[in-house]
Amino acid sequence: MTTPIIAFFNNKGGVGKTSLVYHLAWMYFDLGLQVVAADLDPQANLTAAFLDEDRLEEVWESSNSNNYNTVFRCVRPLLSGIGDIATPNLEKIEDGLSLLIGDLQLSGFEDELSSQWSDCLDRKERAFRVISAFWRVLSQAASSTSADVVLVDLGPNLGAINRAALIASDYIIVPLSPDLFSLQGLKNLGPTVKRWREEWRERIPKNPALDLALPQGKMQPVGYVILQHGVRFDRPVKAFQRWIEKIPGIYREKVIENPKSDNEELTQKQDEVALAPSSDPNRLALLKHYQSLMPMAQESRKPIFHLKPADGAIGAHIDAVRLVYWDFKDLAQKIANRTELLLPSSQSSLELELKK
Ligand SMILES: Nc1ncnc2c1ncn2[C@@H]1O[C@H](COP(=O)(O)OP(=O)(O)O)[C@@H](O)[C@H]1O
Ligand SMILES: [Mg+2]
Repeated sequence: MTTPIIAFFNNKGGVGKTSLVYHLAWMYFDLGLQVVAADLDPQANLTAAFLDEDRLEEVWESSNSNNYNTVFRCVRPLLSGIGDIATPNLEKIEDGLSLLIGDLQLSGFEDELSSQWSDCLDRKERAFRVISAFWRVLSQAASSTSADVVLVDLGPNLGAINRAALIASDYIIVPLSPDLFSLQGLKNLGPTVKRWREEWRERIPKNPALDLALPQGKMQPVGYVILQHGVRFDRPVKAFQRWIEKIPGIYREKVIENPKSDNEELTQKQDEVALAPSSDPNRLALLKHYQSLMPMAQESRKPIFHLKPADGAIGAHIDAVRLVYWDFKDLAQKIANRTELLLPSSQSSLELELKK
């Protein structure tokens, strides 16, 4: 069975997407899965969450061009026009948790991805090699680590890098903040993703290279995660509630492939859901503002649910840390149920420790 590739995508920045991917990667690792976290955002924030500056400097400054240790270095041979992708050299965070390191230079791939997209229609082999590059790098990363899941962090835009990353994905999860900007963004995101899926499926049969495997463009929407931390609390709670209530309808209309179902009863049921956002089946979680726990976790270079008294998690923080563990475990399980992910049934050692 192939490893599911799950992309986290929102065209508005600062909603908490990278923090979400980082915590989920750790959670799946804690639950016993083999995890690859891939940083396909040229801003490389996910990479900076995992690695300290000394390590980052060592990787990024290294002049050995044959060390394929960032996503950009893996696709660089393609850019020269004569080579193909190189097998990624992943950063081992733990036994069972690996990182495909991001790279600020990745933005240099944007133009090529943009022009090769139309060349696919002209049945050009190189165009298919370029457009499928991320998928092939991610697939190699998954097979070299026998990964159970690949989680992909993306930058907040509708550019060609994200298009190539999304057609490489089996599943898409949308992190959202309950505000006007995020909802406007969702209205662009949904139709754009649908169009990319269709355009890719139209291109697949034009691939002239029989030996070149391609992603199938599954791109199945799994649901959305509401991230509350970006909400301005100087605004009335009612304003924020208003956005929360609008999300189910907009998501269903703009993101789901066939929102108009033939099943009258189901459609009616879905309309009722609009009245009760918390029971919307597309809503995977609502994550709170974790206050000082987030900077504490960043400082310690750990997920919040690994924080210990020595990291500053004392007193009431200890209970808060536990709640964050359950937030993410619950979310990880929901995502697993909707993708092909099988979670080991035994409790993680961390969970047993937290229950003490
Ligand atoms: N649940 C949360 N609680 C508190 N702070 C958060 C939370 N999620 C994200 N943040 C903070 O918000 C900022 C933006 O988050 P980030 O994950 O980088 O967003 P994005 O990837 O969408 O740009 C970061 O400083 C991060 O620490
Ligand atoms: Mg980010």
